[in-house]
Amino acid sequence: MPLKVCVLVGSLRPGSINRSLAEALIRLPDAAEHEYHFADIGSLPLYTEEHDESPPETVVALRELVKSSDALLFVSPEYNRSIPGVLKNAIDYGSRPYGESVWKGKPSAVIGTSISPIGTALGQSHLRIVLAYLDVPLMDQPEAYIQWKDDLVADDHTISEASREFLNGWMKAFLGFAGHHKGVMTPS
Ligand code: FNR
Repeated sequence: MPLKVCVLVGSLRPGSINRSLAEALIRLPDAAEHEYHFADIGSLPLYTEEHDESPPETVVALRELVKSSDALLFVSPEYNRSIPGVLKNAIDYGSRPYGESVWKGKPSAVIGTSISPIGTALGQSHLRIVLAYLDVPLMDQPEAYIQWKDDLVADDHTISEASREFLNGWMKAFLGFAGHHKGVMTPS
């Protein structure tokens, strides 16, 4: 049965290499049968507790999308060895009001790309800490720290032969992990 996956890209840049990676991942053979929805985190205002009572429409839309999704795929750059503020802002919005977090229990995976050889490893590590606190079941293995090369993703979203098998296996593992959690959490 197809899963509904919410994709959260931690970059707002039109030419984002992480957006490009995300678009390619969801088209891989073992991923294509599922349904993907990109969260619009760029239209969120900056978080303030004053919005907890009556959140702006864009916040409501994000919260509804996450609530209705079976799984979450985080694809993010690393900024200054951590996660971009825009992504943290979205996570903070989804976590409030207190006790009404939309993240809890949503099976998730984290991936990212950078031209650096560490391929967002430290940013992912920070993101994992935040998500663990929010009670998000995270796929631990396989990890994916992707060093960006200009030929990694073609204009038609296909992944270079050198990385295709690994990334297809990574998506297969994530979707298997997500499907397992859905089975565990949904009474038959
Ligand atoms: C970066 N970049 C970066 N790269 C990295 O590997 N580790 C880092 O800590 C940082 N820090 C950082 C901070 C800020 C504010 C910017 C704007 C950039 C470089 C980053 O990997 C590069 O700009 C990517 O292209 C960003 O991803 P998107 O936007 O192309 O998806």
